[in-house]
Amino acid sequence: MPEAIRVRCLETLDDREIESLSDVLIDCVEGGASVSFMLPMSRAKAEAFWRTAAASVARGERVVLAAEDAAGAIVGTVQVILSLPENQPHRGDLAKMLVHRRARRRGVGAALLAAAERRALDAGKTLLVLDTASDDAGRLYGRNGWQRCGHIPDYALLPDGTPCATTFFYKVLRA
Ligand SMILES: CC(C)(COP(=O)(O)OP(=O)(O)OC[C@H]1O[C@@H](n2cnc3c(N)ncnc32)[C@H](O)[C@@H]1OP(=O)(O)O)[C@@H](O)C(=O)NCCC(=O)NCCS
Repeated sequence: MPEAIRVRCLETLDDREIESLSDVLIDCVEGGASVSFMLPMSRAKAEAFWRTAAASVARGERVVLAAEDAAGAIVGTVQVILSLPENQPHRGDLAKMLVHRRARRRGVGAALLAAAERRALDAGKTLLVLDTASDDAGRLYGRNGWQRCGHIPDYALLPDGTPCATTFFYKVLRA
C-alpha cells in the first residue's frame, strides 16, 4: 500500500463521494481511457453512472472501493460485480479500475486490485474476470497473478472514436 493511501469500501455513496468519483471518471475518460464513455465527457454522464452504481451497491449487487489520499480525497476506484447468473455463484467481474492521472504510478492501482480481490473472496467469490483495453492496466493485472486469456480486435471505441481491442483476464482466488 503506498504511503498515505487508504482503500475504503463505500457502503453507500453520498453526494460528496459521487462528486469525487465523477472527478476521477471524467479525468480518466478525458485522458483517453476506454471505460464505456465517449467524448465529450460531462459531469451529468459521470454522476448518472455513479448514482446507478450507488443503487446497485444498495441492492448488494456490487462492491465499490475508493482509494483516498491523506486529505481524504478520492484518487482511485474499482468495482467488483457480485450479482451474476445463478449458474455462476462463484464468479465476480472486476470493473471500472480508475486512478486519477495525478495519482498514478504510486501503487494506487495495485492497492485497489488487492483490496478488490480480498472483498471478492470475503463475498464467497473464487474466480474473477475482467477485460481491458489498456496496456497499463494489462501490466498491472499480469504482475498480480491474473491470467491473460484472449484478445478481441475492434471490441469497443476509445473516447475519441478510434476502435480498440480488448483483452480478457481471469484470476482464481485463494484465501
Ligand atoms: C491502469 C491504472 C488503473 C493503473 O493505476 P496506477 O495507480 O498507476 O497503478 P500502479 O501505480 O499500481 O502501477 C502503475 C505503474 O507504476 C509503477 N509504480 C508503482 N509504484 C511505484 C512507485 N512508488 N514508484 C515508481 N513506479 C511505481 C508500477 O510498477 C507500474 O509500472 P508499469 O507501468 O511498468 O506497469 C491507471 O493507469 C488508470 O486509471 N488508467 C486509466 C483507466 C483505465 O484504463 N483503467 C483500466 C480499466 S480495466
